[in-house]
Amino acid sequence: MSEAVLILGATSAIARATAAAFAARGAALYLASRDLDELERISADLHLRHGVEVRYGLFDAEATETHEAFLQAVIKAMPDLSGVVVAFGYLGDQQAARDFKLGAKVIASNFTGAASILSYCANYFEPLKHGFIIGISSVAGDRGRQSNYVYGAAKGALSLYLQGLRNRLFASGVRVITVKPGFVDTAMTFGLPGLFLVASPQAIGERIARALDKSADVVYLPWFWRYIMLIIQHIPEPIFKRLKL
Ligand SMILES: NC(=O)c1ccc[n+]([C@@H]2O[C@H](COP(=O)([O-])OP(=O)(O)OC[C@H]3O[C@@H](n4cnc5c(N)ncnc54)[C@H](OP(=O)(O)O)[C@@H]3O)[C@@H](O)[C@H]2O)c1
Repeated sequence: MSEAVLILGATSAIARATAAAFAARGAALYLASRDLDELERISADLHLRHGVEVRYGLFDAEATETHEAFLQAVIKAMPDLSGVVVAFGYLGDQQAARDFKLGAKVIASNFTGAASILSYCANYFEPLKHGFIIGISSVAGDRGRQSNYVYGAAKGALSLYLQGLRNRLFASGVRVITVKPGFVDTAMTFGLPGLFLVASPQAIGERIARALDKSADVVYLPWFWRYIMLIIQHIPEPIFKRLKL
C-alpha cells in the first residue's frame, strides 16, 4: 500500500531528511510548520527529486486551538493519510530552568503541542484500524540533568505519552514508534559545548523512515545510544546528583 505521510515541524533538519527518505520510497507528503516560504522550497525540491506529490501548510505546535481544524484540512487534502511524524521541537537555553516563562515555551513546543495534535491523529486512525505515528523524542528525556532538565522533562513526558498511546492503539493495529536521537548536527545543537558522537540528520532521517519496516517500538538513533542511556539510567541517584551533567 502506498504511504501518505504528514510531517509536523517539517523545516527541521531531521524532518527534512525524514521527508526525503519517505519521498524516496514513493510516499506522498504533507509538510507542515510555521515557515510557509521554506515549506514551499522544500516541497518543490522533494517533488522535483522524487516525483511524489508534496503538499504543505501552516502548523504551529503552540496554537493548540487550531490543531483539530488543521488535521481536518490535511485529511481533506490527503484523504489516504497513512501516517504522521511529529518532528517539531525547541531546545531553549539554560535560562528556561530559572525563568518559567521561557520554560513554559519549551514544554508547550515539545510536549503540550505534541499531545494536542497526537490526540486528534489517534482519534482519526483508531477507528480506521491502520496507520502509524512516529514521535521524535530524545535521549534527554531518559534522565534529568542540570544542563537541560526542562527540555528533558518535556521530552520524557512525550516518551511516556507515546508509550501510553502505543498501548491504547495496539488493539486497533495503529503503530506508534518512539524515536530517541542522541546528538544530531542541526540548528538545534549548533555551537553547543560538550557534544560527542554527533550524527548527521541524513542518517537519522533515513533510519526514522526505515523504522516502519522493523518491529521495534522504541528506536534509539544511532543504536548505541540505547546502551549509553542504559548506563546513565543505572547510575545511582546519590552519585548522579553530584555529577556535572
Ligand atoms: N538535534 C539534536 O541533537 C536532537 C537530538 C534529540 C532529539 N531531537 C529532536 O528532533 C526533532 C528535530 O530536531 P532538529 O534538531 O532537526 O531541529 P531544528 O533543525 O532545530 O528544527 C526545529 C524545528 O522545530 C520547529 N518548531 C519549533 N517550535 C515549533 C512550534 N511551536 N510549532 C511548529 N514547529 C516548531 C521549528 O520550526 P521553525 O522553523 O518554525 O522554528 C523547526 O522546524 C526535535 O523534536 C528535537 O527536539 C534533536
